[in-house]
Amino acid sequence: METRLGAMKKVHIKSFGCQMNVYDGQRMADILGEQGFEETATPEGADLILLNTCHIRERAVQKVYTELGKLRDIKTAQKAQGQDTRIIVAGCVAQAEGAEIQRRQPAVDLVVGPQAYHRLPELLEQARRKRIVDTDLPVDDKFGHLPAPRAQVIRKRGISAFVTVQEGCDKFCAFCVVPYTRGSEFSRPVVQVMIEIERLAAAGVQDVTLIGQNVNAYHGEGPDGRIWGLARLMRRVAEVPGIARIRYSTSHPRDMEDDLIAIHRDLPQVMPFLHLPVQSGSDRILAAMNRRHTADEYRRVIEKVREARPDIALSSDFIVGFPGESDADFEETIALVDEIGFASSYSFKYSPRPGTPATDLHEQVPAAVMDERLQRLQARIEHHRQAFNHAMVGRTVEVLLERAGRHPGQLAGKSPYLQAVQIETDANQIGDRVQVVIERAGSNSLFGRKAGAADGSMPMPAQDPSTQPASAKELAA
Ligand code: 5AD
Ligand code: SF4
Repeated sequence: METRLGAMKKVHIKSFGCQMNVYDGQRMADILGEQGFEETATPEGADLILLNTCHIRERAVQKVYTELGKLRDIKTAQKAQGQDTRIIVAGCVAQAEGAEIQRRQPAVDLVVGPQAYHRLPELLEQARRKRIVDTDLPVDDKFGHLPAPRAQVIRKRGISAFVTVQEGCDKFCAFCVVPYTRGSEFSRPVVQVMIEIERLAAAGVQDVTLIGQNVNAYHGEGPDGRIWGLARLMRRVAEVPGIARIRYSTSHPRDMEDDLIAIHRDLPQVMPFLHLPVQSGSDRILAAMNRRHTADEYRRVIEKVREARPDIALSSDFIVGFPGESDADFEETIALVDEIGFASSYSFKYSPRPGTPATDLHEQVPAAVMDERLQRLQARIEHHRQAFNHAMVGRTVEVLLERAGRHPGQLAGKSPYLQAVQIETDANQIGDRVQVVIERAGSNSLFGRKAGAADGSMPMPAQDPSTQPASAKELAA
């Protein structure tokens, strides 16, 4: 790649969307790092600009073209100054749009789908001569070809890390584009995942989230030649020295097997947090969505999870206004939200994704009705989130300190329930796990002091059951 003489080559990576994209962005930074690129925070001045796109949100494609228009202007301006700029479009929009991207925006040099990242150096080389599109969805294992991040890079990224263990989805929910953009389910072999996690832990990472579009469908090849499920993989991860906290996301209710539920009871490293999207509380809509479970089956899974870990923080995704959703269907969603008392949730208005079966359904819900339903749903979700957070006040929780707080003398971290917590402390540093008495719940963070700090005594042990939060259901009541 052309560059100014003597200067380091710079790459700017902008990732949209989910955690998997953030992870992919980091792995592309690792592979480009090996090619002599260092990351830069702005597109201006970069030799290479990489848009790591996401297809899941409404108007995602349109937003990419708008963004590309801005990048073309930067490319043109830099060209006038004698600097070459290359533009890469990666991620799910790249996969879905393919060659159309370069047709609509000729400034783009390379279009690369999520399964071809390991080939970036070679594709970049080819893109010097002609515009390139690589959106094959091969079955070969891209992860096996990606370089491991260097310890120094891991440290810069912090003490929490995502690790993709699974990719793609075979569920084919009627609204969802993932099975088409990310392809069918693939699970990384256990050994490969373990090497990555051991490397992260050796560089100081304490908190890992195993991610995948349908992570609890994980079925990777084990070192014994057998297929391992997610529960077995997590038991192995929990043995890695230094790994204090483990989470996994995103799960499908159908794949919440009993052995996975059991690890919430058995493994102290597995955090009491579960993101388990239900999408709707109506059986009719769940069937139309091809979710392959009923609302009661979801309730039963939640019951079992709460039996294993009564204090677990639950989270979900919801879609309002799926074609054919009646007022009564929507009321069932509200009833489910109130019954379960989620600690947090995401909610979206349905919007058609080209190529998905739901686009052929005719009974579209009017926009005004969707707006109203979304508002009502979000108000209930927010009510339960606040209730969950406020019920923490007076309790003692372990906080993993991750970064400087908002004000001098403050450090910020996360509770086991994935809540942001700020504490005043001079005696601690990033990476410490401290027992914190929660004193106040703000709208987005909890505030507390170190346990025992007020009277100078030693911190309380974490296991004292009287200091543990009640179940989310009780809290939300
Ligand atoms: N319309 C609205 N929301 C969607 N999601 C996925 N596809 C669509 C769509 N076509 C939401 C689902 C999913 C989350 C990641 O995004 O709730 O769980
Ligand atoms: Fe999409 Fe999740 Fe359904 Fe798979 S399980 S099709 S990723 S919504």
